Amino acid sequence: MAIERTLSIIKPNAVVEHNIGAIIHRLEQAGLKVVAMRMVKLTLEQAQGFYAEHDGKPFFEKLINFMTSAPVVTMVLEGDSAITAYREIAGATDPAEALCGTLRSDFGGDNVTFNAVHGSDSPESASREIAYFFADSEVNTY
Ligand code: PPS
Repeated sequence: MAIERTLSIIKPNAVVEHNIGAIIHRLEQAGLKVVAMRMVKLTLEQAQGFYAEHDGKPFFEKLINFMTSAPVVTMVLEGDSAITAYREIAGATDPAEALCGTLRSDFGGDNVTFNAVHGSDSPESASREIAYFFADSEVNTY
């Protein structure tokens, strides 16, 4: 297995519901190491830029409104096959379809929009998304 890095975002609903600690605990227990972390209240421009590939889709405006509604926690996670491992822990996009015990099943809301966490879906997106939020010098080694 290869050591990878992935970008994780704890979304507004999970932050507002005080689930930051519970989510990070699960990620660490699963062997993913937090190597960078920042809480940020995304501006409209930051959210639109991050989700630019979805611009024009029917859910875009709703997604942007949600992601700018409260602070988020952005993290770089490192570990064996971190991209796939994280997506398995996160569960299906729609919390209603996510397996029991996944983050989205346990911390997601009653709508696909409020799905608690984001994770990079490929090595290419991980590189782009990590660079979107963090300078190389902010990503730690330990
Ligand atoms: S797509 O069209 O298949 O590429 O979309 P998908 O990968 O499923 O989702 C992309 C991101 O948009 C969010 N999403 C939604 N937000 C609001 N409303 C609806 N209906 C909706 N459908 C998808 C989804 O959570 C993804 O966000 P991230 O942050 O990447 O998880």
